[in-house]
Amino acid sequence: MWRDTQPAPPDPILGLTEAWKADPNPQKVNLGVGVYQDEQGRTPVLPSVKAAEAALLGRETTKAYLPIAGEPEYARRVEELVFGAGDRPAGGGRVRTAYAPGGTGALRVAGDLAAALGGRGHTVWLSTPTWPNHRGIFSAAGLETREYPYFHAATGSLDRDGFRAALERVPVGDLVVLHAGCHNPTGVDLEEPDWEWVAATAQARGWIPVVDAAYLGFAGTVEQDAAPLRRLLAAGVNFLVAVSFSKNMSLYRERVGALVLAAADTGSADAIFSHVKRVIRVLYSNPAAHGALTATAVLSDALLRSMWDREVAEMRARLAAVRTAFSDALSARMPDRDFGFIRRQRGLFSFTGLTPAQTTRLRERYGIYMTVDGRVNVVGLTPANLDYVADAIAETIRAVA
Ligand code: LMR
Repeated sequence: MWRDTQPAPPDPILGLTEAWKADPNPQKVNLGVGVYQDEQGRTPVLPSVKAAEAALLGRETTKAYLPIAGEPEYARRVEELVFGAGDRPAGGGRVRTAYAPGGTGALRVAGDLAAALGGRGHTVWLSTPTWPNHRGIFSAAGLETREYPYFHAATGSLDRDGFRAALERVPVGDLVVLHAGCHNPTGVDLEEPDWEWVAATAQARGWIPVVDAAYLGFAGTVEQDAAPLRRLLAAGVNFLVAVSFSKNMSLYRERVGALVLAAADTGSADAIFSHVKRVIRVLYSNPAAHGALTATAVLSDALLRSMWDREVAEMRARLAAVRTAFSDALSARMPDRDFGFIRRQRGLFSFTGLTPAQTTRLRERYGIYMTVDGRVNVVGLTPANLDYVADAIAETIRAVA
């Protein structure tokens, strides 16, 4: 069996970074993986994170195991961030939160939870298109994946009619993965009335939203970007949230995330959470500490929290500025085309409409790496490479229809 094993295909996103690293082209540009970069192309440790880590190092007294679901203080801070800090506990007793190793880990725990409660073959619905790893994660958990319409390519906007028609028919108990904002890969988000509709429909039909919240703070403030989650909670919906601090705290390699669940009442929240803990116990036993302790320190210290808010605002400002620069650079080279969609899309990604033939040519001829579906991580663009990339895209669009 081992002798006859064929190599697995490279990952469509992380595999690009490996290929980019191996490319000898001195002008190569990595617009693939969704990692924030500053104008110099660096992904620095945030100063708020550095300060939190320095303090932690001095305070740390043990490396003993954490509880299966992580530190309760981490859970509390995540809930406050997501649902707001009021006089009452953020979720009013219906909410439970477990640490998870990144957003990916949270989604896998959600998948295993669904399989534990609903059985293997339980169905999860994904947007067309979606982050390719969604399918892999839920399939690995033994769930059946199906798709609902989301993106209307001709207009570069939400296929609202298709979206609603499909979700109106989702059976009770199925999971529906939604992106809280900065939809990956399209950058096209649900708007407020859509979330209102989602809350009412999930509630009426009994399907369970699984909200992938990987980019809180990258479209609006963290508060603004968390509004859909607060709406679902207020509507009394049963739902799950996969929170990630990879992007907004730049904690990528520390793997810091959380699975948040909101159930009908305290009793069912406790019962479901007991299954979350069983799922975690067999997946990785209990959490890694460093990243979550760091995030807890940033979120709980008033000074570090305000530093972090400013840092997120800076990242958001660069995202907006680079979108304008990218759209202008392409419009200047191809005045007959409309690149306004690049400004309208939100988050790290621009879904350019470049075809697989065009993205392949950009990689082979220019050393410009993006996912094959034409998704570009816009902050991979810097003042040093913007003209090179815009020239190459314009030349390629002319050369390959
Ligand atoms: C991406 O879509 O590029 C990011 O979410 C990173 C990843 O793990 O794929």
